[in-house]
Amino acid sequence: GKKGDKSRGALVVLEGLDRSGKSSQSRRLVSYLEGLGISAELWRFPDRNTSVGQTISSYLSNKSQLDDHTIHLLFSANRWEKRSSMEDKLKAGTTLIVDRYSYSGVAFSSAKGLNIEWCKAPEIGLLAPDLVFYLDLPPEKAAERGGYGGERYEHLDFQRKVAEKYHLLRDDSWKIIDACLPIEDVQKQLRDLALDCITTCQSGKPISQLWL
Ligand code: TYD
Ligand code: MG
Repeated sequence: GKKGDKSRGALVVLEGLDRSGKSSQSRRLVSYLEGLGISAELWRFPDRNTSVGQTISSYLSNKSQLDDHTIHLLFSANRWEKRSSMEDKLKAGTTLIVDRYSYSGVAFSSAKGLNIEWCKAPEIGLLAPDLVFYLDLPPEKAAERGGYGGERYEHLDFQRKVAEKYHLLRDDSWKIIDACLPIEDVQKQLRDLALDCITTCQSGKPISQLWL
């Protein structure tokens, strides 16, 4: 950055179907970065700790019903309520590794049949990721991995639709990672690409906003 500025952290997002390996890969990536002395934190959406997050959690576990538009806006609100703390962290030099973000929001809701542009609208103005890892796994392979937790969206037919919607959301910030590869191979790719991205952000790449 400019003289006197502290260089900023990178916003790195992991996306993919349920069981694609996002959570374990994001944990491993944060440990790796910390081991190199890089300030990094693991975040995830939905963040089930807030009151909005608890409403989302109850919906996902089928304990409550909500209109599709309503739950979509709650997922978005759950990101908005974290926006300023994310920005503060990045500006303080901390890299955020985020397990799911706006792409999940749009892919899952539009897979239910909601208009994709309508789904994107409430995400406008959130922080744009510097890098998105899409852990690419065929829906059938994800289902074979087992461990679907029985939450609302964890069914093969629905995950197939989500995969199609994710496909429409790809942009220049995306790196498609073959999630069929052994866990260590996936990890290696993530490490190298994340380090490149962190360097680019340190050297002054501005923080931008989603979908403007
Ligand atoms: P998930 O990451 O699977 O949480 P956990 O690991 O605790 O099960 O997220 C829960 C579900 O929420 C998942 O099926 C994707 C869905 N989702 C949305 O529909 N919209 C969103 O904006 C987000 C972040 C997730
Ligand atoms: Mg899940």
